[in-house]
Amino acid sequence: MKVDGKDIRPIWLDEDLKTVKVIDQRRLPHEFVVADLETVDDIITAIKEMYVRGAPLIGVTAAYGVYLAALNAPDNYGETDYLIKECRRLKAARPTAVNLAWAADRVLSAVLNIENDAERLKAARREADAIAEAEAENCRNIGLHGLPLIEEIYRKKGNTTVNLLTHCNAGWLACIEYGTATAPIYTAFDKGLDVHVWVDETRPLNQGARLTAWELGKHGIKHTVITDNAGGHLMQHGMVDMVIVGTDRSTYTGDVANKIGTYLKALAAKDNNIPFYVALPSSTFDWQLRDGIKQIPIEERDPDEVRYVQGLNQGSTISVLVPPANSPAADFAFDVTPARLVTGFITERGVCKATEQDVRRLFPEK
Ligand code: MRU
Repeated sequence: MKVDGKDIRPIWLDEDLKTVKVIDQRRLPHEFVVADLETVDDIITAIKEMYVRGAPLIGVTAAYGVYLAALNAPDNYGETDYLIKECRRLKAARPTAVNLAWAADRVLSAVLNIENDAERLKAARREADAIAEAEAENCRNIGLHGLPLIEEIYRKKGNTTVNLLTHCNAGWLACIEYGTATAPIYTAFDKGLDVHVWVDETRPLNQGARLTAWELGKHGIKHTVITDNAGGHLMQHGMVDMVIVGTDRSTYTGDVANKIGTYLKALAAKDNNIPFYVALPSSTFDWQLRDGIKQIPIEERDPDEVRYVQGLNQGSTISVLVPPANSPAADFAFDVTPARLVTGFITERGVCKATEQDVRRLFPEK
């Protein structure tokens, strides 16, 4: 996507083929900083500390992590064991987004049987590049398949503004290009439809206020940042036509893990008869788990993320303490929206209901 006229992705391999470059998303929107990752430890830190975040991007970062493991493998190592061990470390970096293990395992299995070091390295790079390209293409197709849903509302409203609501950041920063939840919005806007986005700020780390608002602004899309609790009120007053969110892991039965607070939006949407769509590439489906609420691991993060808020103060980014210094806090990072509250999935192969039968219709090979 373009930032100030320049094409950029949230991750790329440097020309030296030794450095993975990522936009450090902790610093946005007030600073634009690119971080260099040169080792598996760097990659793990970037995922854990959320320089990179969002399910597809976490997957692509882990894929390049396996490439760096192959690149930096010590001489005379038992290469298979070493790569398997490094891959296991990468997969433990964050628990909820299923793309992480999927992408790391995919690169690992592409290289495990290659004996020659140079060939193994080439294969690792090829596979990581292929995953990045495929995720970009998946998001482009999610945009195309989601477009008719927005067009239909636009027509029904007599070609007046379509108001969408999204939670967290499921934009190109979380993916590679276009985003998942934002792809249909970008596609509709680029086609000339009048769209406006309500952007949930998404506490505690404010990925909506910091990242989604920044992305949409750079693309010229009308948007308004709202508190996480405003959505229900807006829905009751006819100010939301459609909700689109991303997901970090969705079961093939239709349960959706996404940033904490998504479930409450889905409940409010159901109560107000507003379509609630989840946009995802097939890499975000978990084909093993049936019951999202019981089985999807929910990450708990450092409570300081809840206690402190980061923002700009006289030109510098600072962090300030909100609750009393000795009040305990808890940081549950995701929740699970049950399939019955989801109107449909928007995938790279089309739109389907959030049911096992319909998901399998689109992905019969799974
Ligand atoms: O904790 P994060 O920022 O990695 O959580 C990200 C989200 O919840 C996104 O909505 C999700 O990954 C969808 S990705 C396109």
